[in-house]
Amino acid sequence: MSSVKVTKASSFSLRISEVAPDKSISHRCAMFAMLAEGTSEITNFLRAEDTLNSLNIVKNLGATVIDDGVTIKISSEGIKESSEILDCGNSGTGIRLFCGLLSSAEGHFILTGDEYLRRRPMKRVTAPLRDIGAKLDGRNNGDLAPLSIRGASLSAFNYESKIASAQVKSAMILAALRADGECTYSEPELSRDHTERMLKGMGAEIEVHGLKTTIKPMKKLLTPLKIRVPADPSSAFFFAVAAAITPDSDVVLEGVTLNQTRIEAFRALERMGANISYETTDNKYEPIGNIHVKYAPLCAITVEDNISWLIDELPALSIAFACAEGVSVVKNAEELRVKESDRISTVVNGLRACGIEVDEVHDGYSVRGGELKEAKIDSHGDHRIAMSFIIAGLRCSMNVDDIACINTSFPNFFELLEKITEVEFN
Ligand code: S3P
Repeated sequence: MSSVKVTKASSFSLRISEVAPDKSISHRCAMFAMLAEGTSEITNFLRAEDTLNSLNIVKNLGATVIDDGVTIKISSEGIKESSEILDCGNSGTGIRLFCGLLSSAEGHFILTGDEYLRRRPMKRVTAPLRDIGAKLDGRNNGDLAPLSIRGASLSAFNYESKIASAQVKSAMILAALRADGECTYSEPELSRDHTERMLKGMGAEIEVHGLKTTIKPMKKLLTPLKIRVPADPSSAFFFAVAAAITPDSDVVLEGVTLNQTRIEAFRALERMGANISYETTDNKYEPIGNIHVKYAPLCAITVEDNISWLIDELPALSIAFACAEGVSVVKNAEELRVKESDRISTVVNGLRACGIEVDEVHDGYSVRGGELKEAKIDSHGDHRIAMSFIIAGLRCSMNVDDIACINTSFPNFFELLEKITEVEFN
């Protein structure tokens, strides 16, 4: 299954309870369980390539993982040196958070990933970790994987990050838990905050004051996690866009995390005119609930603030831009260039291939709404590019190549899509 043709859809009304579980939270569950005394119990863990790689690494680091197909139980007696190369596959979150976790662990570790991950910048974590004493190296003076780590004693730090990145913040928080004194981390805009919420819930001494986080070193092991992973808003968003661009359609997305740092793309779609309502049904570590999205004619918007809150959804949001009246603008989004693909160029080229007028600048692009036309799109191995253009196919039919990458985050994507339209694999 390397390419797919999707057919233009007619109106639909769906309730989806099987959106893929949250990727960010699943990675963290696997890793943070290694900091606890006792057994963590995780249900609805994302069984996709990226997060299963993290789970496998945790096993290689000596954790006992018992999986009955529903609940994953993880217990650990501390991080052990591994004879395996630790393969994070396609996952930036995996490799960068493991850098923070392993920097202070006793032993020598090698982290690597697939051809795409080995091209992505790692200096954003290796540099600040080296500054506090971590012994980390890699190609291009520590910027490119494979990375080698020899665990070392870490000094307390006050680090002011220039980028709003949850991966950098989380790596530094994990390092801080084992540093030799209280640490502070500040960021220019609040990035997703699952690490702070989950570690605090496990008993870590972490205080958040606006953009500044204070972390005290762990005096003892943490309380195990007992968690049901909520649905991933970034995955749910593909179906939100599907409803928002298909006349007379609506979708209810159940059990999604409603954490404000994760649902900004839904807010953007609302600003464009879509009818969206939120219902909170639970609150463990973070608010969780249902999101109801109904079609309405869309108008153009500018997206320039809190970009990290919708960075992963910008490719799918751009499909909505293409279906809106007027010119939508994305600014301050240079980080898109270092995701699973250079998402500014993959979105811009993809939309142009579909007959949409797009202008590209270094930190964003603008999209003039128009009529999407059937085209052949290359995902460049990027799951979110593949799924975004498949959703565009609901308006005009679409052919997308190189779709195996969808398994990194949303293995049942096509099962759900087939409830809306015809899908033909080649
Ligand atoms: C993630 C943080 C974000 C996001 C990624 C997941 C995380 O990356 O794009 O998909 O789980 O911490 P950055 O930290 O690079 O912004």
